[in-house]
Amino acid sequence: MTTRITCAPLTATVGAEIGGLSAERLARDDAAAGAILDALERYGVLVLRGLHLGPEDQVAFARRLGDIDYEPGHHDVPGIYRVTLDKSKNSSADYLKATFEWHMDGCTPLHGEPPQRATVLSAKQVAASGGETEFASTYAAYEMLGGEERERFGALRVVHSLEASQRSVTPDPGPELLRRWRKRPTSTHPLVWTRRTGRRSLVVGVHADHIVGMDADEGRALLRDLLGRTTAPDRVYRHRWSVGDTVIWDNTGVVHRAAPYPSDSPRELLRTTVFGDEPIR
Ligand code: OGA
Ligand code: MN
Repeated sequence: MTTRITCAPLTATVGAEIGGLSAERLARDDAAAGAILDALERYGVLVLRGLHLGPEDQVAFARRLGDIDYEPGHHDVPGIYRVTLDKSKNSSADYLKATFEWHMDGCTPLHGEPPQRATVLSAKQVAASGGETEFASTYAAYEMLGGEERERFGALRVVHSLEASQRSVTPDPGPELLRRWRKRPTSTHPLVWTRRTGRRSLVVGVHADHIVGMDADEGRALLRDLLGRTTAPDRVYRHRWSVGDTVIWDNTGVVHRAAPYPSDSPRELLRTTVFGDEPIR
């Protein structure tokens, strides 16, 4: 059986709405997974509205994209992680507040693992207001640079830390909290990631703390400027969730963030994470 999916671009630089697939096909059809991977490489973010993909089918589908994360996720189905600020549904909900800032998942791993390849997120319950998820392409961010900038930035290395992410939520941590954050090792990555495919992307986000060998304030100003240009409003796709939507993103080629929503909101997204196999270099 040939699998035809339709892709309707959502902005000039990131995102496409996918048509022609049912939850059933997505979960069981190998060719559908191949078509999704091709579309992901091209568009960075794929939106499947009103799919109503069940948790078991979501895991079955994600397994076709690669090895998935089975860390316990406060949910009955292995391979599902509950994204919610409701502590009765996820006892580690407080850490998720850092998702309100632009980030790429997995830039400060515990043991040097490469960043996750893809994430599948499905809406079980949505916020009454706020709680959209926003995306911007880090490939497009590299492409907007001039020749002189490409050369200069190609030589820079950036230190990423959990502390930098968490300071966005808690700017004045006590010594105990700071000690806990600092138990996570920092990671040093090139600012420009050259992929096996030859494409290049910027590695930016709230977790980028400073530039190696540059005055700290100067480095931070440059990182802030680059993140601002990467996520300029006309380069952002903002997904307004409805129950039953599924969004898949290439975590290596986009930054993402959640628009704020109240911590007592019923918003609940079910997430499955596909591990990466390509180190940042
Ligand atoms: C994530 C994430 C954003 C959201 O799951 O990694 O950043 O909108 N989620 O909840
Ligand atoms: Mn995230």
